[in-house]
Amino acid sequence: MSFDVDALRAQFPILDQQVNGKPLVYLDNGATTHKPNAVIDAIAGYYRHDNSNVHRGAHTLSDRATARFEQARESVRGFINARSTDEVIWTKGTTEAINLVAFSWGRDNLKQGDRVLVSGMEHHANIVPWQILSAQTGAELVPIPVDDRGQLDMAAFTDLLDERVKLVSIVHVSNALGTVNPVEAIIEKAHAVGAKVMIDGAQAVAHWPLDMQALDCDFYAFSAHKMYGPMGIGVLYGKRELLEAMPPFMGGGEMIETVSFEGTTYNTLPFKFEPGTPNVAGAIGTGAAIKFINSLDRDAVAAHEADVLNYAVSRAKDYPGLTLVGDADHRAGVMGFVLEGAHPADLGMLLDQQGVAVRTGNHCAMPIMTRFGLTGTVRASFALYNTRADVDALFAGLDKAKTFLM
Ligand code: ALA
Repeated sequence: MSFDVDALRAQFPILDQQVNGKPLVYLDNGATTHKPNAVIDAIAGYYRHDNSNVHRGAHTLSDRATARFEQARESVRGFINARSTDEVIWTKGTTEAINLVAFSWGRDNLKQGDRVLVSGMEHHANIVPWQILSAQTGAELVPIPVDDRGQLDMAAFTDLLDERVKLVSIVHVSNALGTVNPVEAIIEKAHAVGAKVMIDGAQAVAHWPLDMQALDCDFYAFSAHKMYGPMGIGVLYGKRELLEAMPPFMGGGEMIETVSFEGTTYNTLPFKFEPGTPNVAGAIGTGAAIKFINSLDRDAVAAHEADVLNYAVSRAKDYPGLTLVGDADHRAGVMGFVLEGAHPADLGMLLDQQGVAVRTGNHCAMPIMTRFGLTGTVRASFALYNTRADVDALFAGLDKAKTFLM
């Protein structure tokens, strides 16, 4: 199999449009990726033909919806090579998955004097839940420092590891810097002191195959909408023995076995963590996104993505007045930068006038912005349908923006 980017782009109807009179150049894939026809059609098809509530109807449509919902869970299991579908919990997304671990595993396992390590480059979703939890349990949240190139200080991490550390919760790929963290080494070192490891995989999941059994992390979270699937659904992977021991995060229907005013017993995995009517269409759309990704030659996709990103970074390094924010040896998907004399928000607006969509601001990662003495950056983030021509459009857009600002 090879990689034909034009044929691929044709599967994403949204890309074929003009914005502000210019062809759309979409470089905000870190915020959300677009959806191929196969995903859009799967969701529409579900609502047209199978829509019903799952696990509780006494009728054919409900059986069909349940089967499709559980098939999607099995697709996720295969996609991340989890041992069992019992280890695949549907959530609203990465944020809810991290909160689930914080307020279920964390409340049960952390106490005064314990420590949770995160990195200095976390998204707020992997900081704030631990802060709330720390305030409730007396545990301490400690950030691992980041060097001037936006890489984790592994020596400092090693120094921080001792028996007080009960959890290391770390981002796989930084949404602000693009840094790929050495999660394999982090997991091994953390496990050696008896700590559990949670990985925020939101920005990683679209870029390379994941293997939970090989990685051996304890928890892994990701969102479907950053891997060509729908919004409003994501996954928490957790090792079965941990999930079995954890109390429910939220109560309601479906997560119970029996309810009485004397006491309630809980359902088995994975349903114990899925109260209420789930996002069935979202799960089916996620399954379609996985089928779409699996239909591609993933090595060829990775090579194409690396080519476009490396091209962008090399152009950025030659661009007068531009400073990259984050220049890690190992990066994926994201290029953050500032331009001398130009506010990121102004650049974002002027690029939009050229049809170029980027994100500007602190990227929900204020601590790493502060680390670099900034309030924000411009972020171009790439997906498999981006091309070198998109990168050229970004820099042409910057040339034009400069004529307004300088
Ligand atoms: N967390 C997403 C981003 O980085 C929304 O843009």
